[in-house]
Amino acid sequence: MKHLWQNCHAATMKDGKYAIIEDAVLVTYAGRIEWIGPREALPAIPYDVEVDLNGAWVTPGLIDCHTHLVFGGDRSREFEQRLEGVSYAEIAAQGGGIASTVRATREASEDELLESATRRARKLLRDGVTTLEVKSGYGLDLASERKMLRVARRLGETLPMTVRATCLAAHALPPEYAGRADDYIGHICNEMLPTLAGEGLVDAVDAFCEHLAFSPAQVERVFKVAHELGLPVKLHAEQLSSLHGSALAARYQALSADHLEYMTEDDAIAMAAAGTVAVLLPGAFYLLRETQLPPIDALRKHGVAMAVSTDLNPGTSPALSLRMMLNMACTSFRLTPEEALAGATLHAAKALGLADSHGSLEEGKVADFIAWDIERPAELAYWLGGDLPKRVIRHGQEIDCG
Ligand code: NIG
Ligand code: FE
Repeated sequence: MKHLWQNCHAATMKDGKYAIIEDAVLVTYAGRIEWIGPREALPAIPYDVEVDLNGAWVTPGLIDCHTHLVFGGDRSREFEQRLEGVSYAEIAAQGGGIASTVRATREASEDELLESATRRARKLLRDGVTTLEVKSGYGLDLASERKMLRVARRLGETLPMTVRATCLAAHALPPEYAGRADDYIGHICNEMLPTLAGEGLVDAVDAFCEHLAFSPAQVERVFKVAHELGLPVKLHAEQLSSLHGSALAARYQALSADHLEYMTEDDAIAMAAAGTVAVLLPGAFYLLRETQLPPIDALRKHGVAMAVSTDLNPGTSPALSLRMMLNMACTSFRLTPEEALAGATLHAAKALGLADSHGSLEEGKVADFIAWDIERPAELAYWLGGDLPKRVIRHGQEIDCG
């Protein structure tokens, strides 16, 4: 069925700008955008259904390109500890942090993980997110990483969302490998990645490059195997210190390097040359009460595409609203609302390797869009959370978000 969506304005995000079309019309067919433009330029296209969007602002469906939303348990006690003055690194060193979520995730069944992850993903969907990345990394053994990645696949099958699964086996050192980080990296390279990729569970490979996680040399071993398997890479880099993981990621043509508070201008130059997206995560910055800002001016100056994401995870960013992150990206990082929205659409698509099909309202792209009941696109970054009235259209069909 061919749909004609009319009586709306569009912020297309073409070239990363609002690129506004007043009194816009979209024609969708077979899940794709067949035509978009101003009403007066609409060619005579026969259609089956006409939809009145009542003056709404239409944007691409939001894309949350960095989440850890599959996990067992929660870490609200650690939140209290941090408020009492204990640092993230200290909690990790005491066996808390990621390790405590690993214990809870290993204990949970696949169905239990699916149920809790579905609740979180539905909240994102209701906030306008139609494409989502989900990382493993709280299993840290073959069976538990597989369990997490299978949950990611099942989310994509059971929810009206596009879900990309990223293997983050190199997130932390599991207790059974204590003192043997190189052996664990060997296990990831020789067993985990080839097996999980062979099972079709992996769209990209990520790692955590940090003193309390893995060194650049260890990350590079993982990246080499990812490339041998034909998988793109991403990296948690420069979140707590500067190890130049982002430049390493760029050398491996990474889709993205994420966090980046401690990156240098040279890292930004390397990322720009490689086309690696900078994924900014203001929720983790906020919750850790970080004071070191990512070098936004250097990223702008060198033309590095900036994405914005929730980093939804139980430790450093229990964030259930991507729009809230747009606000924080503006308020804390000084992005403009236009940059923030591009960061949750066009550039987030690129960070997932989906630039050809998602992230902007253009002919030929997937017909995923939100019709927001707002007066101006900047409102998407202005309101602090809440539930903005909207209609969610995925693959050209309006969906009920519940
Ligand atoms: O993106 N930096 C590492 N990983 C997560 C935190 C995970 C956790 O603390 O559970 C992050 O912030
Ligand atoms: Fe993360």
